[in-house]
Amino acid sequence: MRAYKTGWTLITGGGSGLGQALAWDIAARGGRVIVAGRRPEALEETRARAPEAILAVTADVATPQGRDAVAQIVQDRGPLYGVVHNAAVLDPVGPLAEVSPEDWRYQQAVNVEGPLFLTQALLPHLMHGGRILHISSGAAHRCLVGWGGYCSSKAALYMLYLCLREELAPRGVHVGSVRPGVVDTPMQTRIRATDASRFPGVERFRRLKAEGQLESSERVADFVSWVLLDTGDRQFSEEEWDIGNEAQTRLWRDTRAL
Ligand SMILES: NC(=O)c1ccc[n+]([C@@H]2O[C@H](COP(=O)([O-])OP(=O)(O)OC[C@H]3O[C@@H](n4cnc5c(N)ncnc54)[C@H](OP(=O)(O)O)[C@@H]3O)[C@@H](O)[C@H]2O)c1
Repeated sequence: MRAYKTGWTLITGGGSGLGQALAWDIAARGGRVIVAGRRPEALEETRARAPEAILAVTADVATPQGRDAVAQIVQDRGPLYGVVHNAAVLDPVGPLAEVSPEDWRYQQAVNVEGPLFLTQALLPHLMHGGRILHISSGAAHRCLVGWGGYCSSKAALYMLYLCLREELAPRGVHVGSVRPGVVDTPMQTRIRATDASRFPGVERFRRLKAEGQLESSERVADFVSWVLLDTGDRQFSEEEWDIGNEAQTRLWRDTRAL
């Protein structure tokens, strides 16, 4: 039996957007999923579509209590095949020159500390050959004015991928990273609503939506589940996956078609 069918996959931020679509995709492929997030009603919407395959845990990954709640349910349920660090917040949006220490810290706590310390808490429960996948962004690799905190957090998450990949490989745990493109999710709705005085690049995102150029969360979930479930161990972690990379998407399409 395929490894992802014998163990659970935890998805943070599984109550909306990409995390929700990914939970449904993995459940449809015969996997079992635990979704975590702050809003129970959003998680329940995800669970209700495949209640036999999806469990929900209300947890804020920015807090030790939230991460303990996730670790507890994983301990109760049995081995973990995958961890997808998908939860993230875009706010605070605006000049770095004005960001408050409190807003900065909360964003970094969700986007960077959450993945790191949740990985620590879940390592004892990961199967040999288990996989950890970071949901990255183009913002990890270039500056978007007004998104200074978000870009910094995604750049830190990318570096955590590079370091954890080396550190955990000898323990039989594989760490990967994926860039999902510009996806039609609640985060994009939030982006389009931003005032241009806080985020000068907003017009590009409004135009992409108006021109129907956003990736659907279902298509991105298909790509991410392929990366997580169907690539070889070395292939999974050796370079960052990017839905905008033609060679990588060709490989995805060709192997999915087999
Ligand atoms: N959409 C895009 O164009 C795009 C592009 C590049 C990268 N990404 C990345 O893709 C991932 C998914 O984002 P999305 O677009 O699907 O946006 P989304 O719908 O806003 O999803 C983010 C999820 O994270 C959860 N979350 C936020 N803070 C949390 C916390 N402290 N603890 C637990 N869960 C928390 C939210 O649920 P609660 O509010 O219920 O906690 C929500 O379900 C993110 O990592 C994002 O940075 C998105």
